[in-house]
Amino acid sequence: MKVELSIKRFDPDQDEASHTEVYGVEIEPTDRVLDALNQVKWYQDGTLTYRRSCAHGICGSDAMRINGLNRLACKTLIKELGSKISIEPLLGFTVIKDLMVDFDHFFDLYKSVKPYLINYDPTPAKERLQSPEQREAFDDTTKCILCAACTTSCPPFWSDPNFVGPAALVNAHRFIFDSRDQGGAERLEILNGREGVWRCRTVFNCTQACPRDIKITKAIEQIKRLVLFNRV
Ligand code: SF4
Ligand code: F3S
Ligand code: FES
Repeated sequence: MKVELSIKRFDPDQDEASHTEVYGVEIEPTDRVLDALNQVKWYQDGTLTYRRSCAHGICGSDAMRINGLNRLACKTLIKELGSKISIEPLLGFTVIKDLMVDFDHFFDLYKSVKPYLINYDPTPAKERLQSPEQREAFDDTTKCILCAACTTSCPPFWSDPNFVGPAALVNAHRFIFDSRDQGGAERLEILNGREGVWRCRTVFNCTQACPRDIKITKAIEQIKRLVLFNRV
């Protein structure tokens, strides 16, 4: 099928503002948006810039706004979109070039919630065991691939870029609810601060955007209840 791609372009060396360029591509309905972008880059305009790596929904490199919604280009089929497709960079981050945005601030927010195991006990001789129920408590939030589709679809983040955002909250949840971790109180103190969990207004855009189907808003609500009532 013939598809018209309208791609937002910006080259900081040449452009004062972004503009849209339109490309025609012949492609199968079962191909992905990433295949269409590759066709443009490989056969029409080699200057088109975007991140991609695994091409299988694992690395989190190619989140972008496709027909107005944040999605991974490598997981979005052409047949889901029709013959006119608009592609823009993620909102809320500085554009480096075309569809490539600057993730530095996103990773600073991620690091601010201590997304690693904290345990002050001496290292045990064997692994720290968990029951299936204990593992289940944070199973969903282990699935994050740090693509930023959630944080860049969140209106409170658009208006306050210092809000830690849903991706950092998901990764805080992953350790707060891990029975082996002892850093929950430290993280909850950070998340109870000015730029923490209370900036979330339960908009649900994050949950809709997540390519891993993580129940992000539910995880955030569990953090809120833990802060308020010390239970989930
Ligand atoms: Fe991406 Fe989902 Fe992780 Fe957000 S929670 S960064 S949308 S994988
Ligand atoms: Fe934003 Fe998701 Fe909350 S979109 S407001 S973090 S529910
Ligand atoms: Fe790795 Fe799409 S290229 S998630």
